Amino acid sequence: MYRVKVELKRVERSYGSGPALVRALKGVSMRIKEGDSISVMGPSGSGKTTLMYIIGLLEKPSSGDVSIDGRSIKGCSDWYLSKMRLKRIGFVFQQFHLLPNLNAMENVMVPMRESGIGRAKSRKMACELLDSVGILNRAKHLPSRMSGGEQQRTAIARAIANGPEMILADEPTGELDSDSSGVIMDILTEMNRAQGKTLIVVTHDPEVARRSRKIMRMKDGSIHS
Ligand SMILES: Nc1ncnc2c1ncn2[C@@H]1O[C@H](COP(=O)(O)OP(=O)(O)OP(=O)(O)O)[C@@H](O)[C@H]1O
Ligand SMILES: [Mg+2]
Repeated sequence: MYRVKVELKRVERSYGSGPALVRALKGVSMRIKEGDSISVMGPSGSGKTTLMYIIGLLEKPSSGDVSIDGRSIKGCSDWYLSKMRLKRIGFVFQQFHLLPNLNAMENVMVPMRESGIGRAKSRKMACELLDSVGILNRAKHLPSRMSGGEQQRTAIARAIANGPEMILADEPTGELDSDSSGVIMDILTEMNRAQGKTLIVVTHDPEVARRSRKIMRMKDGSIHS
């Protein structure tokens, strides 16, 4: 029996107000279990990124509830939630979001430094992480001097730096050619299968979605199937 890690109960998320009100999520309920591998698909504007932000504790629901390990986030302070994000959740985005003036190794060091790990140890671990995604030879390169696939591998190394139990990837291969896309998905899939990390991937690509154990389709702010 796998434990339920994250549960969404009738989550609504709206932006703006009055005539400009947008209901990005309209009552989404779901359970994410330990070790799950889920692809989220659906048309542009259907609420996929909003859902990832809610699951990743970057945004709070307008109504409904989210619980982590059975505990509602309603009673949690922003400080506590940011600690949970830093230690337990790794984010990977379509546009990589690396810091442009830091090299690959320094980018990977950022979350470790934020969580209080010393410089020397962070540097050593960053090199091990870059090695594990096959780009230790790019450790001293700035993002602008790396290919898209290399930048995304750096972003993955950064996402797993603090040993998160869950990886949330929002169109991680959206800007990559099919070869680099395959490499990125191999790395993410391996983290799920071999290390038991929960993996949630938003994608438009059926080839990418095919690798997950479950596919969730969103439509107009709701889970369609
Ligand atoms: N910060 C915001 N302020 C206002 N509206 C927003 C905001 N973020 C998202 N929305 C709106 O919420 C809806 C859902 O957006 P969301 O980004 O979740 O869609 P998506 O499924 O990720 O789309 P895409 O495939 O294009 O990335 C859209 O109509 C969008 O315009
Ligand atoms: Mg999106």
